[in-house]
Amino acid sequence: MKPIFIRHASQVIAGQKDQGDPLTQEAMNVLNVIEDGSVWIEEGVIKRVGTDTQLVEEFGSRVEEADVIDARGKLVTPGLVDPHTHLVHAGTRENEFDMRLNGKTYMEIMNAGGGIHATTRATREATEEELYKESYERLNQFLLHGVTTVEAKSGYGMNLEVEMRQLQVASELHKDHPVDIVRTFMGAHVVPPEYKEDTDAFVDLVIDHMIPKVAESGLAEFNDVFCERGVFTPEQSKRILEAGKAYGLHPKIHADEIEPYKGAELAAEVGAISADHLLRASDEGVRMMAERGVMGVLLPGTAFFLMADSANGRGMIDAGVPVALSTDCNPGSSPTVSLPLIMNLGCLKMGMTPAEVLNAATVNAAHAIRRGNVAGSLSEGRKADVVIHNTPNFMQLQYRYGVNHTDTVIKAGKVVVK
Ligand code: NIG
Ligand code: FE
Repeated sequence: MKPIFIRHASQVIAGQKDQGDPLTQEAMNVLNVIEDGSVWIEEGVIKRVGTDTQLVEEFGSRVEEADVIDARGKLVTPGLVDPHTHLVHAGTRENEFDMRLNGKTYMEIMNAGGGIHATTRATREATEEELYKESYERLNQFLLHGVTTVEAKSGYGMNLEVEMRQLQVASELHKDHPVDIVRTFMGAHVVPPEYKEDTDAFVDLVIDHMIPKVAESGLAEFNDVFCERGVFTPEQSKRILEAGKAYGLHPKIHADEIEPYKGAELAAEVGAISADHLLRASDEGVRMMAERGVMGVLLPGTAFFLMADSANGRGMIDAGVPVALSTDCNPGSSPTVSLPLIMNLGCLKMGMTPAEVLNAATVNAAHAIRRGNVAGSLSEGRKADVVIHNTPNFMQLQYRYGVNHTDTVIKAGKVVVK
């Protein structure tokens, strides 16, 4: 394979010296910007990042053997990382969108048997091939928006067989599709109707039956739960997350999405890798997350689509919480693959700066799925996941909002979008 030489970008956002830890506070607002920047990619790896002059000097006559990409007037960043998606599912729920626009709430629809239940029925009925095909298409769309790594949750099976099927599909997609996929078990996404009268019995089933089998299969790395009034209580969520920990599954949590419910506090207490949503997180919960270094994965697209107030991203960063951004891609509360739009909303709805949102969708997003050392940064020696945006600087990426500026995507050293 010929080397790829990206040349003369008006800005390259290069890796910073120490990216072993998530970025917090002022560090979230710092980017390593190289003007007239170039990147040398060889054998799938980023060999060198610097000014064009530096790289030409270093590679000398080898420049002639490379495939040169002229990036004049463009911005080069790491491949974007989406740390929270419900990628593998069947069907759509535009009927519920219409119901919400006519006054019904998300929870009312769910409690009447729609919402997550509706997608569970569709997912249970789908064949493995159908799930694979639908999800493959979504991954293509992610890639077209510059996303090169996604986390994918189960959670539309609510029985072991279908939960495992979702994880299996995610695992096959990881092998077959250029986008890298990190898998999360979410057996506790909602209480299935057959357990409505005895939710603890379902929690027991997740703990005693599903978690051990999922852990044994090696199909998941994280364990997530929807901690919300009317879904799983903080006590039940804690039991589920602790049980996962005992089997080596790292805890994640859908926390304080609709109502304040002490989800952020729980995330800190169990040492979760991340607490996600946090629209209604308490100040105390946020303080505890900062103290414990729990990543806040914020999903402003979900707030936007549910017509709710966004999480207080600005306040969380100022309080010392490391913040990441994600689409939450799912058929009910956020049917989008546009992480660039989510970054726009990070600025416009949560008061984050253009530099902060870029770090939140790259470096910190990678940390939110324990990939901080392999993804989310244009650092020498890393796998070459690189995006060229058709915009001259990182501020315009946010300023010209609602536009997909993705021009070229390189995944593991191969041009996959052009
Ligand atoms: O992150 N809140 C729980 N889970 C998803 C929505 C899933 C769905 O509606 O299908 C979320 O918002
Ligand atoms: Fe979610």
